[in-house]
Amino acid sequence: MALFGIVGAGLMGHGIAAALARAGHHTRLHDPDPAVLGDVHDRVERALELSGTPEAARMAVQDHISAVPDLDAALHQVDVVVEAVPERMAVKHEVVAAVEALVPPRTPIWSNTSVLSITGIADGMRHPERLVGVHWWNPAHLIPLVEIAPGAATDPAFVRSAHDLVTSLGKTAVRLHRDVPGFIGNRLQFAMVREALHLLDEGVCDAETIDTVVRGSFGLRLAAVGPMENADHIGLDLTRSILANLAPHLSTATDAFPTLDKLLTDGHRGRTTGRGLLDWTGPHDVTSRLIEGIRRNLPAR
Ligand SMILES: NC(=O)c1ccc[n+]([C@@H]2O[C@H](COP(=O)([O-])OP(=O)(O)OC[C@H]3O[C@@H](n4cnc5c(N)ncnc54)[C@H](O)[C@@H]3O)[C@@H](O)[C@H]2O)c1
Repeated sequence: MALFGIVGAGLMGHGIAAALARAGHHTRLHDPDPAVLGDVHDRVERALELSGTPEAARMAVQDHISAVPDLDAALHQVDVVVEAVPERMAVKHEVVAAVEALVPPRTPIWSNTSVLSITGIADGMRHPERLVGVHWWNPAHLIPLVEIAPGAATDPAFVRSAHDLVTSLGKTAVRLHRDVPGFIGNRLQFAMVREALHLLDEGVCDAETIDTVVRGSFGLRLAAVGPMENADHIGLDLTRSILANLAPHLSTATDAFPTLDKLLTDGHRGRTTGRGLLDWTGPHDVTSRLIEGIRRNLPAR
């Protein structure tokens, strides 16, 4: 079993720790915010409880996780470092530099960035060959898929060892041939978000209707049949003809999102402010619905 040091104990850090600990690995979590570190065990407990993990298994997971306020102590003799700090290039650079000052040159560093370039994060590293993009999905202890990508300077041996380790957890690890912002999943996901915002900007429908359409139609199919298999299934000639007629009408926006920008300017950030694309003032159960939905769609093991 390996010893992991996770830097950043927020949403993803605690989920990744739970995923690793569930497979029997030992994990030290570090975060500069004492409040975040202080309730890490409570958050792991809630996440595991919500996903139906029995009490004995929850206790075993907790035994494998420790919260360590000092970065040096957290990373002492670890086999792998996982960075799960905020999605800002300057923070990633600062953290990777701090980590490199503490661990030997051959210790792998996995970045959980969602959309930043691995090559960009590696810029300025003393040993960029050990940085690998290892992108987990929230909730990390539940979602099987993990995307793995090399930066331009990454040594393939580090990519292979990340792939093998992630696979040994019972996860589905996929490898990208090269580093692209957003890996595969977030590129596809945000292509859809961009088009949904375009429909709002064009006054075609309201936000509730978009969710109704996605959840009631192709959303039901996606966990069973992916878009490439579906393209073959309906026929590539039909796929080609749909694209020829539809592609010219799809959004190509790169920096203009009027509906979204107006909401943000007015201080509406979504769930946390009570209003976003939807109204969040009443009671809502999105977290439990999300977990239930994911569990329903998980392949049987
Ligand atoms: N939220 C998601 O669904 C999701 C999914 C996949 C990947 N990610 C990526 O994972 C990373 C972390 O995201 P998150 O959602 O867990 O964010 P988060 O804000 O919940 O957690 C980040 C943590 O990093 C800590 N931190 C800040 N500066 C630090 C520093 N210098 N050293 C150590 N810790 C520091 C913060 O105190 C915070 O607890 C981001 O790169 C994000 O894009 C997020």
